[in-house]
Amino acid sequence: MKGVILAAGKGTRLYPVTRHIAKPLLPIAGRLTLDYAFEQLKGMGITEVCVVVGENENAIREALGDGSEYGVELHYSRQIEPKGLAHAVGFAKDFVGDDSFVLYLGDAVYDRSLAEFAKKFEESGCANLNLVMWVEDPRRFGVANLEGDRIVKLVEKPQEPESNYAMAGMYIFGPQIWSVLPDLQPSARGEYEITDAIQTLVDRGEDVRAGIYEGNWFDTGTLDSYLETTAFLLNSQSLMGHEVALNAPIGSSVVIGDRAIVNAGLIEDSAILPGAKVNVNGTIRHCLLAGTVNHDGDLENAIFWGDERN
Ligand code: DAU
Repeated sequence: MKGVILAAGKGTRLYPVTRHIAKPLLPIAGRLTLDYAFEQLKGMGITEVCVVVGENENAIREALGDGSEYGVELHYSRQIEPKGLAHAVGFAKDFVGDDSFVLYLGDAVYDRSLAEFAKKFEESGCANLNLVMWVEDPRRFGVANLEGDRIVKLVEKPQEPESNYAMAGMYIFGPQIWSVLPDLQPSARGEYEITDAIQTLVDRGEDVRAGIYEGNWFDTGTLDSYLETTAFLLNSQSLMGHEVALNAPIGSSVVIGDRAIVNAGLIEDSAILPGAKVNVNGTIRHCLLAGTVNHDGDLENAIFWGDERN
């Protein structure tokens, strides 16, 4: 089995920081976001991995190289434009060949191993197994209707969901998926949806299953979720990098990257990226800061890169 990680999105919900650092390279609790993906894939026995990249290609190649530092053999494929997950996966077809593969969304972080789902896929001989998770409000996800462990219907971001099972960012496919992709049409939001591809497998009578995940799952693409993930992984401990010059009391859930210089009244629930120079004449709370940041007064709920504020 091989691994495909989708990492081609623009990360617009984390602008302006992601104009300067590719989202898959953002550190979360001291590790690159993609390192969590590598760890999960290795736990499934996968070491051959293709990262589907976009405009961020050079930055990602430069940071990850051949993957040896992370214990994986890395290949790269460039998605010309981010036109949806089913479009992106097509760029990994040559890499995957006749194998089955795990498709992993590059911004997903889980606190439990997913290895049991790879085992279940292999043992069942099904065409496709998808990680799903019961969530209170599934409207911002793909939503799956289940009969036992079979998926019988899928809808992308429905306004009136028929089930609480969200598609949770990890999919395992056999080669059947490749025959489905050429027939897909763009959805209402103009994307080639992986949920539509899987629905086509269901419509064709293929064996499509769900693996129910019961741990914590984070989609790290927004400020709230980025900070929530950071805080969770740090388990409310403060964490600082090397050579940090810190002149500020630290509250709960703080991560400060290597070589950062920070002057502030107090820091809480925040991440300060490596090399940042931060002078805040007040409290920093619930922020993601990078570059040179000078601010008079409290700074709350902000993504800040120097003078650019989001
Ligand atoms: O987070 C789980 C959800 O992910 C699922 O429940 C949905 O069914 C699925 O469609 C997807 O929805 P999102 O709208 O949240 O996906 P997003 O645009 O955030 O993209 C997920 C990852 O895929 C992200 O790391 C960027 C990458 N990507 C995205 C697009 C649109 C690509 O590599 N290429 C693309 O064209």
